[in-house]
Amino acid sequence: MTEPSKERAPAEKDLKRVCVIGWPVAHSRSPLIHTYWIEKYAIPDAEYVSLAVAPDGAAQTIRELPSLGFIGANVTVPHKETAFAALDRHDAVARRLKAVNTIVTTAKGLEGRNTDGYGFIANLKDRASSWAAAAGPAVILGAGGAARAIAAALEDEGAPEIRIVNRTRSRAEALMRDLELKSAKVFSTAEAARALDGAGLLVNTTTLGMKGENDVTIDLAPLPQSALVTDIVYTPLETGLLRRAREAGHPTVDGLGMLLHQAVPGFEAWFGVRPDVTAELRNLVLADIGKK
Ligand code: ATR
Repeated sequence: MTEPSKERAPAEKDLKRVCVIGWPVAHSRSPLIHTYWIEKYAIPDAEYVSLAVAPDGAAQTIRELPSLGFIGANVTVPHKETAFAALDRHDAVARRLKAVNTIVTTAKGLEGRNTDGYGFIANLKDRASSWAAAAGPAVILGAGGAARAIAAALEDEGAPEIRIVNRTRSRAEALMRDLELKSAKVFSTAEAARALDGAGLLVNTTTLGMKGENDVTIDLAPLPQSALVTDIVYTPLETGLLRRAREAGHPTVDGLGMLLHQAVPGFEAWFGVRPDVTAELRNLVLADIGKK
């Protein structure tokens, strides 16, 4: 006779359920990353799922997360600004960016946070330990949501100047104004050489270099050889820009680590364990990218 199982199925209210909200959401690697950590740290009764939510339902879904049984969420494209507007509470970074990628339940209710800039800086510290933001001006290619998060984080980290190079000048000017960057300059793509002169960091935040897209074509010759070059595109892992930079002798860092590191603060807030970004996790995500 078999013993009746002593294991109790967790009551709904004991479940620690978290989701990623996006539209589409199938491409998101957040479930892979968080489920890996849930298993690695043996978090009891925890679950991380994908939630495909169309734009017209996003604000309501976000406000109703607790009644839907979620203790938190990640928010991805195109809902980061909607999530900011849907929530009453934010941390200082989300407030500055007016965009939310992480939602946590606090004693006062749901709070929107933004960990994209944290992930960007943590990745550089992890993979280019001698790099320091204070060492020189930082050049950002692009002026979209990712560029905003990165510009704010670089300023907070002590970059002496932020130089934004964008196809559409007005968008770069709006970024500079909205973030109230203390020391920033805007350049057109044709003026990129001036932006690179004397810089300590170059980051591509545009979609250029992504599989199936054209590469970044700006001439790297004016960039000091010690300048670190990085890309937030991670498919392919080594973009055309990173390959040219490596061949020219620059230190380079690929964009995959930003994705991994931005997930750390959310996991810690939801489950109470600060997770490690390991080679094993990186390889797991790389293998998944290889499949798609
Ligand atoms: P995200 O929010 O993910 O950062 P986004 O808001 O769509 O993305 O911004 C994409 C960035 O890539 C923008 O800076 C865009 O330039 P514009 O502001 O001029 O549109 C840039 N970008 C996209 N395709 C580009 C291309 N073919 N050449 C140059 N820049 C491009």
